[in-house]
Amino acid sequence: MARDVSLADIDREALDLWRSLPSGAVVWLSGDLGAGKTTLVQAIARAAGATPARSPTFALVHEYASPEGTIAHVDCYRLRRPDEALDLDLAALAARSRLTLIEWPERAGHFAPDPNVHVRLSHAARPELRQLEHVT
Ligand SMILES: Nc1ncnc2c1ncn2[C@@H]1O[C@H](COP(=O)(O)OP(=O)(O)O)[C@@H](O)[C@H]1O
Ligand SMILES: [Mg+2]
Repeated sequence: MARDVSLADIDREALDLWRSLPSGAVVWLSGDLGAGKTTLVQAIARAAGATPARSPTFALVHEYASPEGTIAHVDCYRLRRPDEALDLDLAALAARSRLTLIEWPERAGHFAPDPNVHVRLSHAARPELRQLEHVT
């Protein structure tokens, strides 16, 4: 069920999500440009006490170090075809990460590892709100 969330609600949402996710979890983040996917990723990194870990090997993958392990953020927006995700080896990335967050997972096709949680964000009637929905 979709709920309206404001920017002020995001840290709470992120903390709840972070606490609910087992080690090795994968989260898919769907939604239009500007729907708030990256904002939620950054809030989850904050909730986890994580800081940027190292300069990325791939422009599409950013890793954060948290006390519980690596948090990987993958943004597939720039993939033109799913097979461009092959080099990213998302399955291996997810296997060694505490948490893997994937924006635009649809663009990676079957190269995106299956999600524990699939969040959909969308614009709401009021511009200062977003709708947040757990698809799975
Ligand atoms: N829950 C929210 N409520 C209101 N504004 C938000 C929310 N999440 C993000 N925004 C705002 O929307 C804009 C785009 O957010 P961003 O996270 O970059 O979107 P995306 O990654 O989905 O393209 C930013 O200016 C951000 O401050
Ligand atoms: Mg984004």
